[in-house]
Amino acid sequence: MRLLTSAAAIAAALTLPVAAHAADAPVQVTLDASKPGAVIDRHVFGQFAEHLGSGIYGGIWVGKESTIPNTRGIRNDVVGALKALKVPNVRWPGGCFADQYNWRRGVGPERKPIGAGEPNTFGTDEFMDFAQQIGTEAYISVNLGSSTAQDASEWLEYMTASADHALGAERAKNGHPEPYKVAILGLGNESWDCGGAMSADFYVNEMKRFSHFLHSYNPAQPTMKRVAVGPSGGAENYTEEVMKAWKSRSWSWDIDAMSLHFYATGGWPPHMADTGFDEKDYAVLLKDPTAMDDLIKTQSAIMDKYDPEKKVALAVDEWGAWLAPTPGSNPGALAQQNSQRDAVLTALSLNVFARHADRVRMANIAQMINVLQAMILTDKDKMVLTPTYHVFHMYVPFQDATFIPLTFDAGTYTTNGVTLPRVDAVAAKDKAGKVWIAVTNIDAKSPATFSVSLAGVKAAKASGQTLSAPKVSSINTFDAPNTVAPKALSAKVAGGKLTITVAPASVTVLGLD
Ligand code: AHR
Repeated sequence: MRLLTSAAAIAAALTLPVAAHAADAPVQVTLDASKPGAVIDRHVFGQFAEHLGSGIYGGIWVGKESTIPNTRGIRNDVVGALKALKVPNVRWPGGCFADQYNWRRGVGPERKPIGAGEPNTFGTDEFMDFAQQIGTEAYISVNLGSSTAQDASEWLEYMTASADHALGAERAKNGHPEPYKVAILGLGNESWDCGGAMSADFYVNEMKRFSHFLHSYNPAQPTMKRVAVGPSGGAENYTEEVMKAWKSRSWSWDIDAMSLHFYATGGWPPHMADTGFDEKDYAVLLKDPTAMDDLIKTQSAIMDKYDPEKKVALAVDEWGAWLAPTPGSNPGALAQQNSQRDAVLTALSLNVFARHADRVRMANIAQMINVLQAMILTDKDKMVLTPTYHVFHMYVPFQDATFIPLTFDAGTYTTNGVTLPRVDAVAAKDKAGKVWIAVTNIDAKSPATFSVSLAGVKAAKASGQTLSAPKVSSINTFDAPNTVAPKALSAKVAGGKLTITVAPASVTVLGLD
């Protein structure tokens, strides 16, 4: 830097406002709508509801006799909240639970419980009713680990066949004459571990049989997207075996996607506190979306070898924060609170999926209600929407929108020895032609100003919502449900530039008009 030597220069330096430090300088963003990317498949906003803890019982199902307002046993408050998210699909019944699920115990008038925790009162017909009530598609994960292809095939007959099939007739007798639709079919879950501890080649042989023998009988939805099990963490053996087999597949079987699970934990086993944490723990957890991005890149590169046209999607069908259980809760129930940190984590993760929209065409956050990084928490008749819920709601316009590349220098934010990008941003154009931009300020201490040059977009203003909180550890509770709630935000576009300033640790989504 040139030294100021004259007295006048020194005086000027003392009286002028202090130049903005790079860390506080506006983030210059360029949006070029003339170079659209891939469509961000709405299925990346999918959810996961497993028979685990109070994810189903208490969270969705209260039973027809409950005093909690319900429709055929399914909570009305939860259904109302989920409808607003336009949930594209729900993965059910697990997870690890799927590979020990006996669907027959959960249909008909005589349910066969597996102890108090699994009364089997929420079975196939109740799940399909729930899916219909919230307006979503069914992603059924079949039991490949401990059952047979014949049993899974019969389950599909029960769900999708007309009443002139024996099992379609059984479903009709149980009160559901119309066949259901199964949009997505999971062929096992984590088969390298809880799904049967199978070697990759053993799994691939099983998966081929299940892919071949399982059919949708419903002419209104004759094809199902089939999802094979993918890697364990960064291991490559499952990815190689599945993709190699797919490349040389015969007419008799096929898959549409390969699954990948990634949990943000800040280090395994899950140990990070869900509430009352400090800025360091905020930053540590937020390193994980970058780790997920790296994992997607390495697994996609293997897939590219066998499938350069990207016909097989990568389905990140379990993702989210996995923290230490809420103190005092049953550790096996995987109950955890949900804070502004989860909101920022959600936005960063959804942005990763958007940037990989050409390969990542499905994702399911774990899990929908009361388990892990939930949308909704319930306790008897009480319900609260989490910060994660609000981000999913704000991102609805990105469903099936076309990715628009942005260029910007995120800079860095360092706290307690942890360095992260200072900001993140993505943009997309919806089917009606409206452009949306989502900006995340990761920095927990300083606001951020974004100056967005809008090439190829005619707009006079931007409006939408911003989600910030008093602290990064702020949460919504049954007594204080709106501590973290979105607020309206708008800004003018002047000279082809949108300029907005957002709060520390915030997520903002704006539509351009
Ligand atoms: O989401 C909880 C569990 O995590 C799932 O059952 C399993 O698939 C994963 O290991």
